[in-house]
Amino acid sequence: MGIPVVELGKRTGKIDVADCMGCGRCVTECPTGSLAFRDVGSRGIGVLFLLVLTASSAFAGMDPKAEGVGLYGDLWRPEPVHEYWDPGAYHRPETERVEGRFSGPECLECHQGLTPGIVNDWKASRHAAPSSGAAPVTCDACHGNDHQALTFPTPATCGTCHLQQHGAFLAERRYGFPSHALAMERAVDAKHFVDTSPRRKPPPACNAIRWPPSAIPATPGTVSTPPEARRPEACLTCHSGPPHPDDEAYFASAHGRRYRAEGKDWDWSKPLRKGNYTVPTCAYCHMQEGRHQVADKALWKFGLKEINPFTAENKIKRKRWIALCSECHDAAQAETWLKELNHERTRAWSVLEDAERVLRGLRSDDLLSPRPGERPPYPVDWWEKHWPRARIGFYEGQASAFYNVSAIERDYFEMWYFDNLLAYKGAAHGAPDMVTEGHRKLHDSLARLREQEKDLRALDLLERKSGKKYDPTPLWKHGPYTDRDAEGN
Ligand code: HEC
Ligand code: HEC
Ligand code: HEC
Ligand code: HEC
Ligand code: HEC
Ligand code: HEC
Repeated sequence: MGIPVVELGKRTGKIDVADCMGCGRCVTECPTGSLAFRDVGSRGIGVLFLLVLTASSAFAGMDPKAEGVGLYGDLWRPEPVHEYWDPGAYHRPETERVEGRFSGPECLECHQGLTPGIVNDWKASRHAAPSSGAAPVTCDACHGNDHQALTFPTPATCGTCHLQQHGAFLAERRYGFPSHALAMERAVDAKHFVDTSPRRKPPPACNAIRWPPSAIPATPGTVSTPPEARRPEACLTCHSGPPHPDDEAYFASAHGRRYRAEGKDWDWSKPLRKGNYTVPTCAYCHMQEGRHQVADKALWKFGLKEINPFTAENKIKRKRWIALCSECHDAAQAETWLKELNHERTRAWSVLEDAERVLRGLRSDDLLSPRPGERPPYPVDWWEKHWPRARIGFYEGQASAFYNVSAIERDYFEMWYFDNLLAYKGAAHGAPDMVTEGHRKLHDSLARLREQEKDLRALDLLERKSGKKYDPTPLWKHGPYTDRDAEGN
């Protein structure tokens, strides 16, 4: 599947600003007047698109000296696109071109010639003509009326009128990580946010979530109407690719295949409710009845850790799922399907635990090479500097094992993050081939870890016999790659 706008770029050789989905997934930099697009989805050498923006590019006025926000804010610099992702922190209003306070009709009049795309988006939206017959919600409702102090709206701005949606969005916080409402904070407060040098830093693609996803307004080129938000494509800018192949899983399922075959002819103006659609879309299942939150049914969450599906809370969540499936399926059948998800998870975790045991065994025999202490400490982790220790698995905090670890730890990380989550997303969404594929990969990875374990133990025996212990420290602690990272962080 992939990211539609990138496909479009490949096909036509150019992308118009109206096509930009605004997720920032492929935006790498934003020099004056243009956006450089790199195809990060295909992980290839990268297709480079130069996207020349219309007048609106001149508006992106972020302070070039702006610092990052969050726990490690002093260690990273925001990219220009952060002004859009987190306008509360970074939007700096334009103050050179226009002065004065204006009424809604005045904004429209001037901007019709200046930014016609935005004005047309607005005209096509409900804000221009509320069905209740109320007065239009004009530009100033979201941006303010003083042209020297314009703002970009935050969810709270929308919340002044859309109380219910904003309330549901905020309530998502109650369920903790992962959630849309917490996404930005959680992302910038994570250690690995600063762990790559600025030159290599990928765009924090998925941190872009600020709005309740089904309510993205008249923004340039993004989802602007409920019919668009109801389609799976509204979610796929972020929910695709490893380690969250929701798109692959959905399109491989009976639901997704039917959507692919027939969806173009459905009447998308109808709410996502029982009777209105043949098969469910992402929002049908995850934002049931248009609720602006995605966490109230999540048991396994992102599949990153093992959970007990039989706690009182999880039983309630499971009942909510069954009630949803029962809109179209027999309830007992739905329960059986969801039990299969639990079984799949139990099988996955038993393989992951075997792998963790291999690693723990090596750690306790001091056979991880290079050892912690022989390799650069994990960036921004002061504790590690004083007490180097290999952390194995989710519960010891291996989430930070992207690099600066031994080969076998890195392989385990990939097994947990990619093979495991492939199987999970397949099982959650009714894609049996993905489950098979995920489990085949899990077993292959475990077999490889065991091979490596054998080699490490054999090598250790040789070293002990010869009385010569190899010290990998110089190789790991210095060299162009490591030195660059040490500087970059
Ligand atoms: C007299 C014409 C005129 C009127 C009236 C006007 N604008 Fe603008 N606006 C501009 C121009 C010109 C720019 C571009 C500035 C630049 O190139 O950096 C701009 C930029 C903007 C921007 C982007 C810059 C920023 O600081 O975020 C927003 C948002 C905006 N206008 C909203 C409004 C709203 C809301 C109103 C009504 C309250 C309004 N404009 C009325 C001419 C106008
Ligand atoms: C319902 C709220 C809402 C209304 C109404 C609205 N906008 Fe916006 N506008 C936004 C949001 C959200 C963004 C994107 C900002 C972001 O990504 O943080 C945006 C972006 C813009 C930008 C782009 C600024 C840039 O730097 O690229 C301009 C210009 C703008 N709006 C002008 C207008 C004008 C003119 C109107 C009236 C026709 C209008 N807006 C009506 C919410 C609104
Ligand atoms: C000043 C009040 C106000 C603000 C601020 C506001 N809206 Fe609205 N919004 C409305 C009104 C009024 C309607 C029309 C409802 C109707 O049709 O009766 C509407 C409609 C919508 C719709 C279409 C709903 C549908 O069922 O068709 C969406 C989506 C939406 N708003 C999103 C947003 C978002 C996102 C923001 C913040 C960026 C926002 N609104 C800010 C008042 C506001
Ligand atoms: C702009 C990117 C983006 C878009 C668009 C997006 N999401 Fe998400 N979503 C995220 C991120 C990031 C997280 C994880 C947040 C975190 O790290 O806490 C997430 C988390 C979730 C979760 C997990 C909740 C949990 O408690 O386990 C669900 C379910 C979800 N999204 C569904 C959707 C659906 C359905 C849509 C489309 C209607 C959608 N998302 C659109 C970025 C996005
Ligand atoms: C038939 C309903 C259904 C559809 C359609 C659906 N999902 Fe799911 N999704 C589920 C179920 C069930 C789970 C597992 C929930 C659990 O037990 O935690 C899940 C899990 C997830 C998760 C992990 C967080 C969580 O809630 O456990 C994300 C993220 C997610 N889905 C996103 C999507 C996206 C994006 C789409 C569309 C491409 C989509 N889903 C389509 C039912 C659905
Ligand atoms: C809006 C109606 C609707 C909802 C809600 C729904 N489904 Fe379905 N589902 C269908 C339809 C229709 C099919 C048959 C699609 C086809 O084969 O063309 C289907 C097919 C399936 C299949 C494959 C059928 C088979 O016999 O292999 C599974 C598994 C499934 N659904 C699971 C679920 C689960 C689990 C839920 C709740 C999380 C759910 N569905 C929610 C309509 C729905």
